[in-house]
Amino acid sequence: MSTDKKIYQPNPTFAKDAVIPSMDDYWKLQNRAIEDYEGFWQAFADEKIDWLSAYNKVLDESEAPFYKWFTEGRLNVSNQCIDRHLADKAHKTAILFEGDRGEVEYISYAQLSLHVNKMANLLRHEFNVTKGDRVVLYMPMIPEAAYAMLACARIGAIHSIVFGGFSAEALKDRIEDAEAKIVITADGAYRKGKPYMLKQVVDDALDQGGDSIEAVLVVKRNNEPTKWVEGRDHNYNELIVSQHAECPFEAMESEDPLFLLYTSGSTGKPKGVQHSTAGYILWAQMTMEWVFDVRDDDIFWCTADIGWITGHTYIIYGPLAAGTTTVMFEGVPTYPDAGRAWKMVQDHKITQFYTAPTAIRVLHKMGEHEPKKYDLSSLKVLGTVGEPIDPPAWEWYYETVGNSHCAIVDTWWQTETGGHMISPLPGATPIKPACATFALPGIIAEIIDPDGTPKEVGETGLLCITKPWPAMIRNIWGDPERYVKAYFGDAVKDGKPVYFSGDGAVLDEDGYITITGRVDDVINVSGHRMGTAEIEAAVKRDDTVAEVAVVGRPHDIKGESIFIYIVLKEGHINLDIKNHINELLATEIGNIAKADHIIEVPGLPKTRSGKIMRRILRSVAKHEEITQDISTLEDPSIVEQIITKAREA
Ligand code: WT7
Repeated sequence: MSTDKKIYQPNPTFAKDAVIPSMDDYWKLQNRAIEDYEGFWQAFADEKIDWLSAYNKVLDESEAPFYKWFTEGRLNVSNQCIDRHLADKAHKTAILFEGDRGEVEYISYAQLSLHVNKMANLLRHEFNVTKGDRVVLYMPMIPEAAYAMLACARIGAIHSIVFGGFSAEALKDRIEDAEAKIVITADGAYRKGKPYMLKQVVDDALDQGGDSIEAVLVVKRNNEPTKWVEGRDHNYNELIVSQHAECPFEAMESEDPLFLLYTSGSTGKPKGVQHSTAGYILWAQMTMEWVFDVRDDDIFWCTADIGWITGHTYIIYGPLAAGTTTVMFEGVPTYPDAGRAWKMVQDHKITQFYTAPTAIRVLHKMGEHEPKKYDLSSLKVLGTVGEPIDPPAWEWYYETVGNSHCAIVDTWWQTETGGHMISPLPGATPIKPACATFALPGIIAEIIDPDGTPKEVGETGLLCITKPWPAMIRNIWGDPERYVKAYFGDAVKDGKPVYFSGDGAVLDEDGYITITGRVDDVINVSGHRMGTAEIEAAVKRDDTVAEVAVVGRPHDIKGESIFIYIVLKEGHINLDIKNHINELLATEIGNIAKADHIIEVPGLPKTRSGKIMRRILRSVAKHEEITQDISTLEDPSIVEQIITKAREA
């Protein structure tokens, strides 16, 4: 495996001052964790967190896999991200906002503090939001989204951000599952120079259900007209003016939930991943310092949307906890042209740039030479996340964007892990392209069989995290049984259930970890995670559909695209099945769930016991030759018919 791969050594000038400046230093840290796991975490918790009162235990495993960290300690995340920086960073820019149309706003830590305190008072006093209440955010990428997150953290409310690309139906489901009290939204925002609407989706969601909602708080961003429900809808811009500038923060317990974030799994409806207060913020800050190596005058830009975990941890919580300047961008990196992102790097002297392989492939394809037109010399670290990156995209990123002197950190992690887990360290790790390299210090990642047997070099196995870590998921909101089954039901080590990520991975002879992708029924479209079961359930809501199977198909830009096989009920014909089903998916889930291919087939390949042979469907979608034994199928002739249909598609 991969001996032929070129190795890229860290830039020595950069490494000299790096937080972790060599592999020796990496191993020192990792060995310390292996020898004294709790002592390792205790040292960092004491150094990094501004505790309001001390914790009594580092790790409580008595109710495993419901692990508890830093029990009975008290802290507040908005203090960790704002107040404690005010002594020496009050005038430093906390959030550098650039709008879609190019306007720039510098929000200092002092200003951020004022906005967050006022919003916290608004929630607390006008809407009676108290500790433990759930607040749904359906927001564009504007500073008010950050204020809302931090205001929730300040008063101990649990935010649940729903990505703005989800439909009214999906929003309603998430509101109902969390039994949220209030929705914070905006009239809309700007994208590609034009206003778009969000509030309308909230109106539709609440027409369909979401009865727990008492109020909708609307930020005016584009001032487009929206429906207004008297008594329910409230204008943020008007109400915020009279709020008091100081709002004392709640002393939260380490294990109090900080937020919920819904994500797809291989079965059933989306899961409300529940994160903790202390463990989460500790790791958000530590990984910011280790993986991005942020220094005092750095300008950090993560291009994610706050609706995803990457936006939570690396636009808001990690950068602000570390006292960094974080860039928040409302628009898209290809508008007005494929040089927008590079112009922003030049204009703001961005030092770390963090994005998804899909975005890199789009920027490469649309403007291979665009980066050369701009001065990108401020860049030091480039990051990728969300899906495996392919070597050509990696090389373009390294050579053309990074001018062959930036480290590329290919960070593997998940909504459930809270922060980075496996990643190069920019000043230490000799990098192999498109390889996540090593587990970060304190993270014990193993590639094993379900019974815990380690895989040999070159053999793909289950990527498991065999020791609990502070930022790990704590529960699935309202469904502890599903939490245990979904994450601790597939692998054991020394007789104890261990966390299985759902990904496969492989080790090479140098101990480098390469992620091979999901081994469960989850697909990854443009870095967005989707459960095939969830898409199938949505398609089945159509009256004419008898059976459906969804698989992923490799895609040049998106990584994977959605491919759907449909069997219609007897006597039904549907001439425009693709548009029809895609409209349904847009309504039920959102535009991100639209399929590239939808084909009608006479039947699905099933075993005699009725199990759908998805491997065959995946091969057909890829136009691969079928090598599997199909003689055990109920009706082997179906395969030929499906292949013919797929060729026509
Ligand atoms: C899944 C998690 C973590 C934030 C973005 C996605 C895939 C993530 C990598 C990477 C290969 C990756 C995995 C993982 N993934 N990072 N560097 N290389 N695959 O979060 O929606 O929770 O998805 O994304 O399959 O399980 P998510």
